This record gives sequence, C-alpha cells and structure tokens, in this order.
Amino acid sequence: MMVQTICVLGGSGFLGQHVLSQLASPQRMINVITRHPYRHRHLLIVPGVRLIKADIHDPATLNRLFSGVDAVINLVGSFDEGRHPDTRLRHLHVDLVRKIMSACREQRVARLLHVSTLNADASNGPSEYLRTKGEGENLVHTQAGETQTTIFRPSMIFGPQDGFLTEFATLLRFSPVFFVPCPGFRCAPVFAGDVAACMAQALKQRHSVGKRYDLCGPKVYTLAQLVRYTATLTGQRRLIVPLPDGASRLQARLLGILPGKPFSMDRYHTLSLDSLCTSGENTRCSTPLEAIAPKYLGDDSLEGRLNHYRSQR
Ligand SMILES: NC(=O)c1ccc[n+]([C@@H]2O[C@H](COP(=O)([O-])OP(=O)(O)OC[C@H]3O[C@@H](n4cnc5c(N)ncnc54)[C@H](OP(=O)(O)O)[C@@H]3O)[C@@H](O)[C@H]2O)c1
Repeated sequence: MMVQTICVLGGSGFLGQHVLSQLASPQRMINVITRHPYRHRHLLIVPGVRLIKADIHDPATLNRLFSGVDAVINLVGSFDEGRHPDTRLRHLHVDLVRKIMSACREQRVARLLHVSTLNADASNGPSEYLRTKGEGENLVHTQAGETQTTIFRPSMIFGPQDGFLTEFATLLRFSPVFFVPCPGFRCAPVFAGDVAACMAQALKQRHSVGKRYDLCGPKVYTLAQLVRYTATLTGQRRLIVPLPDGASRLQARLLGILPGKPFSMDRYHTLSLDSLCTSGENTRCSTPLEAIAPKYLGDDSLEGRLNHYRSQR
C-alpha cells in the first residue's frame, strides 16, 4: 500500500528526523506536528514535509489532524518527566496514546506505527518509563479497532545528536573524572537510520500488521564500555570510574534534583534491566556503532574539528 498522507507526532525529534528522510517522497504529504515549528524549520527541506503547530494533547485537535490521513506515526516519548503536567510520563505514554487511538478510530485511519522501547512492560517494568511505555503498547493493541498497527521496541538508539553517546561526550568534555552509574548495564545500540528504515518498510508490508518488533544493533556493550569508547573517539583522556550500586543510586538521587535531570532514580531503575533482544519478534539491525559514531564524535566530525581548533588557541 502506498501511503499518501502521513501525520507524524514527535517527528521533530532525534529519531523523527531519520524517519522523515526515509518516508520522503514527492507523492507523499508528511504532516509533522510540533509545539515549535520555527525551531524545527530546517525539516522543511525534506520533500513533502509540512510543519504544523498544534496541541496534540487536545482530543478535538487530534481528530482534526487525523482527518483524511492514511497513516499516523507516534514517536512522542521521554525518559524523564518535567514539572509541566504535559510532560508527565503517564500523560505522554498512556493518556496521549489513548487519545491517539480514539482519534484513529473516529477518523478511520488505516495504519498506525508506534514507537515504544525494549523492556516496556505495564505490570513488571522496574521504572515508570518502562511501565508507562508498556501500558501504551497495550492500548495500541487493544484499542486499534479497524486501524492496523505495528509497534517498534528499540534498544538504545545511536546517531548524530543522540541522547546518549553525544551526552557522554559533552559530560566528558567538562569533567576530568567520569563516574559511570550502572556500569554493567548491557544494551545492543541500534542505528537511528536502521530503525527508521524498518518503520518505512513496515508501511509497505502487510505481514508487519499486528506485530511488535524488538530492534537491536549487531553488538552488545556495557555502559562502561560505551563511555570508554566515547572518550577514545573524542580524544578525551579522562579517569573513568565505574560506580558500585549504592553510589549509582546516590548519583541518581543527586542528579535527579538538578534542572534538566542528567540522571534520575527512574533512569537508574530502567538501567536495572539489560536492553537486549532476547524474546518476541527480533530484528537485528546491521549497522555497527563503529561505522557511524566516529562520523559524529570523532576527529572528522564538526565537533571534532572545532575541538582541534580550540586546543590550538
Ligand atoms: N532515543 C533512544 O535511545 C530511544 C530508545 C528507545 C525508545 N525510544 C523512543 O523513541 C521515540 C523517539 O525518541 P527520540 O529520542 O527521537 O525522542 P526526542 O528526540 O526526545 O523527540 C521526541 C519528540 O516528542 C515531542 N514531545 C516530547 N515531549 C512532548 C510533550 N510533552 N508534548 C508534546 N510533544 C512532545 C517533541 O516534539 P516537539 O518538541 O517538536 O513538540 C519531540 O520532538 C520515543 O517514544 C522514545 O521513547 C528512544
């Protein structure tokens, strides 16, 4: 089925930009809903993309946005909640999904792609992030009506401007010592371009309807290995100290009260489960971390070159 008009929620984010570039086609209209169209105006370069400012938490607005749309893609999510009620994890991962499902039914949207996360589990998830993501998945499955749904459950996602290796690089730059919480946590990082390609494929393939795909990259790393790898790529000679469990908890408590929450108790609990593809419908994505990360963290990246000039001043 060639989907002509797509409404993307969360399309302005890190993964969203890869999804948009995979979906782009002159025959398609891609409506990206955002709170900040001006901030994301660079996306207008992608063929077919329109930026629409709207409040996706308002059911009447969602109904209007979904009217006449062939497919909806939901990429809205967050690891941590802020103070504003609209940023509560339950509000984003559960209440919003309920509203999306209802608007899909009312507007008879044919297709929905929903991005969740590995280990999402409404009953047994160890963190609010994983429990609410699990509840969201259950809603997608039980309230689909005529809408054909597919769920994607990636491990940690890497790529330019990702929220983890890039964040490690920033933290490493500002501190001579890096204390790694939950250093033994294992994940199989998956390239954002591979996740986006799987999603674009799913829109064309009937057999993806009703499925949940666990998405993992080709190799498993511990968190400590990823921090060391980032330090090597960015040329930062730092003391990297893996923290024992008690100290990891303390760090989570302390950083959780800082603005922007660099780490939190909820993230600590999320990291208590390895993020690996061990069950369900697994898709092993092939792009290795080592093929991409040097391009945005290494000497040849823009940041790498700027750092080289800084070191010469
Ligand atoms: N990144 C990872 O490693 C990873 C791993 C597993 C699963 N996932 C899941 O993949 C999806 C995409 O992740 P991402 O890293 O691309 O996220 P992201 O960069 O943070 O982008 C999420 C988008 O959601 C929208 N959004 C966030 N909070 C919102 C709110 N309170 N109200 C309305 N819109 C809001 C934002 O759009 P505007 O600001 O333009 O309105 C933002 O562009 C999420 O569901 C995430 O949980 C990510």
